Amino acid sequence: MANRINLNGTSYHGAGAIAEIANEAKGHGFKKAFVCSDPDLIKFHVTSKVTDILEQNGLAYEIYSDIKANPTIQNVQHGVEAFKKSEADYIIAIGGGSSMDTAKAIGIIIANPEFEDVRSLEGTAATKKPCVPIIAVPTTAGTAAEVTINYVITDVERKRKFVCVDPHDMPIIAVVDPEMMSSMPKGLTASTGMDALTHAIEGYTTKAAWEMTDMFHLKAIELISKSLRGAVANTKEGREGMALGQYIAGMGFSNVGLGIAHSMAHTLGAVYDTPHGVACAMMLPIVMEYNQECTGEKYREIARAMGVKDVDSMTQEAYRKAAIDAVKKLSEDVGIPTKLEAIKEEDLQFLAESAYADACAPGNPKDASVEDLKELFRKIM
Ligand SMILES: NC(=O)c1ccc[n+]([C@@H]2O[C@H](COP(=O)([O-])OP(=O)(O)OC[C@H]3O[C@@H](n4cnc5c(N)ncnc54)[C@H](O)[C@@H]3O)[C@@H](O)[C@H]2O)c1
Ligand SMILES: [Fe+2]
Repeated sequence: MANRINLNGTSYHGAGAIAEIANEAKGHGFKKAFVCSDPDLIKFHVTSKVTDILEQNGLAYEIYSDIKANPTIQNVQHGVEAFKKSEADYIIAIGGGSSMDTAKAIGIIIANPEFEDVRSLEGTAATKKPCVPIIAVPTTAGTAAEVTINYVITDVERKRKFVCVDPHDMPIIAVVDPEMMSSMPKGLTASTGMDALTHAIEGYTTKAAWEMTDMFHLKAIELISKSLRGAVANTKEGREGMALGQYIAGMGFSNVGLGIAHSMAHTLGAVYDTPHGVACAMMLPIVMEYNQECTGEKYREIARAMGVKDVDSMTQEAYRKAAIDAVKKLSEDVGIPTKLEAIKEEDLQFLAESAYADACAPGNPKDASVEDLKELFRKIM
């Protein structure tokens, strides 16, 4: 079967990139923007960095902000109603994965109303039309939702998060401006950055990985491990490296999938509302240990990309350990916890079954049973 690659038509990178939004909006002849952004971003004047530019250029917009972290079916459905009333003809998504994913789901349903129940979008839904044009402006350096064909929605009633995979949701333009990320507090920078590292490592080791995605993932691992500590200290170089590294990881994993660190993180997000990046970071080294026997030489390249010296002279056991230790050290240096106290023994069966059914599980290099997943969850209790 041929390998498929989907990427943005256009993307802008670097400090000050948001200035391009006005030119693009005018160039496309768009009339009114439906701006999707969460309430905190509005409160902390992150959203206004972009809406000020729209105003200076006489571009009409309306804000939709009924979006919570780990966005819900209801957030999407309210958004669809608001979009219909707005008379907007494009969307500007400003935020982390939650704002961008909500925007994608709204844009897909407006173009494909037969999926208005939202739940039927899970997995690879047979939508017929591309979503409403989206300009995506990430404010976290983590999910890369601006360049992925995925979005993740929480089903509150059924206590699960579900992944939707659909090339029709690809933003037409991504504007990856590190200055949009500089207001992130330390903890959020650390957790979203570890989400990006998890994308790069799971994407590199997933079953469908191939040369082109390996190229993206190895570069992403290198950039993220070199930049994350600096980003947490809010240095310019750190922010720039993370903005680019997380995007490059997205160019890869979006096209080949992930693994069980993500399946388990989705479950923790749905059941305990654990921030996605924290859940990924806690699971990543544990899953790397579990997967190692099915990864051939790959951990040697992960260790090398993370700056470990002399990997060529190491035994398989030594370089695998070195790669896992480098991930643990980075996670510890940026202050990620290793335990989630909320997990109770009686929750384990539901957690494991839910992670087993997650769309990311089949891509894991080693097939994990419900029992295996239970044991892996136990390691963070
Ligand atoms: N679409 C994809 O491919 C993909 C990939 C991974 C994860 N996800 C999903 O994305 C969501 C997580 O997204 P996220 O980790 O980017 O966080 P988020 O969007 O949930 O935001 C978390 C919090 O950070 C705040 N915040 C964001 N940017 C900020 C900034 N610059 N300054 C100050 N505060 C800021 C937000 O207001 C919010 O309160 C999850 O639902 C996850 O499942 C999607
Ligand atoms: Fe993720």
